[in-house]
Amino acid sequence: MMSSVLRPGVFSPYYQVTKQGVKSLVFPGAKELLPAAAPAGTRLAHTDIKIPDFSDYRRPEVLDPQKSSQESTESRKAFSYLMTGATTVIGVYAAKTVVTQFVSSMSASADVLALSKIEIKLSDIPEGKNMTFKWRGKPLFVRHRTEKEIATEAGVNLGELRDPQHDKDRVLNPKWIIVLGVCTHLGCVPIANAGDYGGYYCPCHGSHYDSSGRIRKGPAPLNLEVPYYEFPDEETVIVG
Ligand code: FES
Repeated sequence: MMSSVLRPGVFSPYYQVTKQGVKSLVFPGAKELLPAAAPAGTRLAHTDIKIPDFSDYRRPEVLDPQKSSQESTESRKAFSYLMTGATTVIGVYAAKTVVTQFVSSMSASADVLALSKIEIKLSDIPEGKNMTFKWRGKPLFVRHRTEKEIATEAGVNLGELRDPQHDKDRVLNPKWIIVLGVCTHLGCVPIANAGDYGGYYCPCHGSHYDSSGRIRKGPAPLNLEVPYYEFPDEETVIVG
């Protein structure tokens, strides 16, 4: 250490300061070696570092070094709470907006919703006839039943049925039976007004359905499916 002090050159002041600092640590009585005006806590080895002025970033209440920061504690806390609360509210609102937009982007658009329903004018279907429509890519049977068909289907003994279901549970208005034209065996399209029961007949493997769309004979296990539909008025049905 002493050899460093004796070395001349531009680094001499730093060597000197280091020597004094270390000496003061080793010999507590060597205080006289420190500059008289040096305040306590001066970092002697780094006197060339300028401490930046952070005044622009400090709150006005704590700029005055003569004033105790305790006096402004409450107001500074209130400001911090206010800022935190406001930021939280804005963050929650932004998150809600993003989630809402994301979820609504996944819902079906208006044109897709329009395609999911079909409106049928019932007066175009004469009594005793079945008409086939395309709905959601599948055939849809709408049949205008006669009084005789209505009476026959209402009187069927449920014990005879493979998939027991009363006719009144399959229709909203007994005059109209509305079912999907997809055979419940392997998905063929049955033929209307055909088969042993006068309802529908699937030629693929010989399934017979009655005029309520119930399976009566053949390999199909279930009745023809009844979709959701409603009658907005006497002349119209909306399926879907
Ligand atoms: S698909 Fe209709 S009977 Fe087989």
